Amino acid sequence: MESPFIPNHIQNLKPYLAGKNLDKTKIVKLASNENSLGPSPKALEAVQIALKNSFRYPDPRAIKLVSKLAQKYKIQPSQILCASGTDAILSYIIMAFTHQPQDEILTSEGTFIGIYVNTLKQNRSLKRVALHDFQLDLTGLLQQISKNTKIIYLANPNNPTGSMFTKKEFEDFMKHVPPYVLVILDEAYEVYASSNPTYPNGLTYDMPNLITTRTFSKVYGLAGFRVGWAYGPQRLISELYKVKLPFEPSHIAQVAACAALEDQAFLDETQKLNTASLKLFQRCFQNLGITTLETTSNFLLLHLGSHQKAATFTQKCLDQGLILRHTDAFGIPEGVRINSGTLEETQFAIEIISKVYPTL
Ligand SMILES: Cc1ncc(COP(=O)(O)O)c(C=O)c1O
Repeated sequence: MESPFIPNHIQNLKPYLAGKNLDKTKIVKLASNENSLGPSPKALEAVQIALKNSFRYPDPRAIKLVSKLAQKYKIQPSQILCASGTDAILSYIIMAFTHQPQDEILTSEGTFIGIYVNTLKQNRSLKRVALHDFQLDLTGLLQQISKNTKIIYLANPNNPTGSMFTKKEFEDFMKHVPPYVLVILDEAYEVYASSNPTYPNGLTYDMPNLITTRTFSKVYGLAGFRVGWAYGPQRLISELYKVKLPFEPSHIAQVAACAALEDQAFLDETQKLNTASLKLFQRCFQNLGITTLETTSNFLLLHLGSHQKAATFTQKCLDQGLILRHTDAFGIPEGVRINSGTLEETQFAIEIISKVYPTL
């Protein structure tokens, strides 16, 4: 029904569909690239103590968390902003650095949906360049820069393909980006990729038009707490503070993130499990003849050949209690994404997939 209050760009927006939850006795969810081990135990412990302080407003500048991040990564506190996840930060960057509908956010097809939704909900132009061989097409992106381009968004590793561009590719790319275009380098899965010596760690660059984002939602296991952070030039970070909701992240989220940062044992265990789980999945997919892409992250993109096959596969797995992510909303309709799990979850998923796939 038409309403005089709802502008077109909001009416036309498709609500965000999160990885599904199911009401079944045995359910395994490998759909949202979370950490199957749960939250960092150190974070959980710290939160128990912090709960009693929840009657107070949180520190709007998350000073403790900011200084821990600055110390850990040897960067300046004035160049860091913490907020309720990368998603919130993307929204604030668009809010702070664009101002009219023709202002364009340039990105790839087949990348993180959050950038599409945040662009469209603020009524900005979204330009998407096709993937090249399931990789971000950095040359193609450069060719599409126009005078309206305000922001370029790159996820590295990319979700849902799991692909990564190298330090050299990134530096060559940045040389060709005009100074009036801001680049967002989303490093949500950095911990998984950083052992690769060619990975371009965004925190090592101090460029006037680069903001790097990181999150506690993935390897740290804190997706439900909502904590992400941005690193960039002080000039830009101070503008983001003006548009950020003052009281985020919540108090317990800040406490959880501080403790998780120090939980190296948990990070090591997570990485070890990730490698083991993905190895088992890869072997299973190979045996079944399912094509997967090489990954630098905690998930795999399965290539099922057609939209219909991918949709049926996702649904049939769901009927059996295994929640996967069909990647049609990402612009890859023939794909299904699965993330690593505990060994028990991995075994359960392999059993279901081995039953379901041959029936397609
Ligand atoms: C590339 C990428 N960036 C950001 C996010 C979301 O991060 P957050 O939970 O911090 O909003 C995701 C989650 O799937 C992602 O894949």
